[in-house]
Amino acid sequence: MSKRVLFAVLLLTLGVIAHCAAAQPMIELRIGGKIQSFSQGALLARPDAAEIHVPRDVAYGTSTTYRAVPLADLLGGAALPADSVLEARATDGFAAQLPMDLVRNRDPATAVAWLAVEDPAQPWPKLPGKPVSAGPFYLVWVGREAASVRSEQWPYQIAQLATQPSPSARWPVLGVDPALPATDPVRAGQSLFITQCLACHRLNHAGSADTGPDLNVPMNPVEYFQPAALHRYIRNPASVRDWPGRTMPAFPPDQLSDREIDLIVAYLAYMAQRKVGR
Ligand code: HEC
Repeated sequence: MSKRVLFAVLLLTLGVIAHCAAAQPMIELRIGGKIQSFSQGALLARPDAAEIHVPRDVAYGTSTTYRAVPLADLLGGAALPADSVLEARATDGFAAQLPMDLVRNRDPATAVAWLAVEDPAQPWPKLPGKPVSAGPFYLVWVGREAASVRSEQWPYQIAQLATQPSPSARWPVLGVDPALPATDPVRAGQSLFITQCLACHRLNHAGSADTGPDLNVPMNPVEYFQPAALHRYIRNPASVRDWPGRTMPAFPPDQLSDREIDLIVAYLAYMAQRKVGR
């Protein structure tokens, strides 16, 4: 082979490698310090991959069927500090904090997490109102109590799953006064905030999400929203103001009751008195 032909073959090979790398999105797993990456093909070919039926799919709003891997199998049984969470980071800046005991559960009498994997040969439909699908990696729930798993605990377009300390240990600036009784409504509001809002919003600069604005600094929404408008905005942002690029979803009453919205607002109002930096 002449040098020129060899060079052409080399370029072609590099091109094919680059193409494969670009065509195959990966999901990264960081479990207690151990890092692994999986392609769609590798996950779809696993012996524990199965066809699952999701009767109430939160992202698609209908019943769906996926090829998926039990999340507990991927996570394994590594010993982790109590209160650890699994942080699910999506490609769009969304970052859910999922309690470890919830994602490791295998008992179908409650809720069991599966990692649904989009088969490149059979692409999923686009999400309602969005130009993209939930793929390539989407965390779904089955089991008798799957409907009790809150809407922001169904992360889609996942790029990374990583174990982390509990959000209040990782970010003390999210915390309330330790002297507040365990039954104080502000504590209930804090835990709802971490599940349903921290996935998109930071607070006091704390959090991993890059999607929505910080909800305490420079200003907290309780300082510039009228109370009824704030409640209404959290229930359904489009009922207050709407535009084509709006991203914040509505929370129907089965995801947040009126009482739960009030608890979140109570936490926000409390945190307005505990601002950190600017
Ligand atoms: C999926 C992402 C997402 C989730 C979940 C989410 N938000 Fe938002 N939120 C946004 C984005 C993005 C904006 C900016 C407006 C927009 O693009 O819709 C926003 C705007 C807001 C605003 C208006 C701020 C301003 O000054 O205009 C408030 C208040 C708010 N969110 C509160 C909440 C609360 C409380 C929760 C939890 C119950 C929550 N959000 C959950 C993404 C989200």
